[in-house]
Amino acid sequence: MRTSFDHLGIATTDGNGLAATFGALFDAPVVHEETFDGMSVRFLDLDGGYFELLEPTDGGPVAQFLDKNGPGIHHVALRTADIDAALDRAREVGVELVDEEPRAGAWGHEIAFLHPRSTGGVLVEYVQHDG
Ligand code: CO
Repeated sequence: MRTSFDHLGIATTDGNGLAATFGALFDAPVVHEETFDGMSVRFLDLDGGYFELLEPTDGGPVAQFLDKNGPGIHHVALRTADIDAALDRAREVGVELVDEEPRAGAWGHEIAFLHPRSTGGVLVEYVQHDG
C-alpha cells in the first residue's frame, strides 16, 4: 500500500500568527481555511505537501494536546488512493486504529487516524483526497 507525504499537523494557540511567520519564511500561502470540529484549521501550501495549523476554538483533543505538550508537531498525514484498503492493511499488520472507519476530515477529505502506541509514538493520519 504505497502512500505519499500529505501534510504535517501542527498544534498552535495562534494559527494566524504562525501562518504569517511560515508565509514570510517559506513563501507558503494559506490555501484553505475553515473552522471544523472545534478547531480553526489552516492549510499552508509547501512544494510537495502542506502544513496544517490546528488552533482549538472550543476544547477537544488538540486543546488537550496543547495543555499537555505545548505547541508543536501533532500528527503526520499520509495520502492514500484507497483509505479502506489502507485501514485493512493496518489491521493485517496489527496496528491499533483510532478510527475503525474513515470519517470526514478537514477540506472535505476522508481521513482516519492510527494509534501512536502502534506507530513509534507518531500519530499517523491517512487521508484520501477524492473521498
Ligand atoms: Co491532518
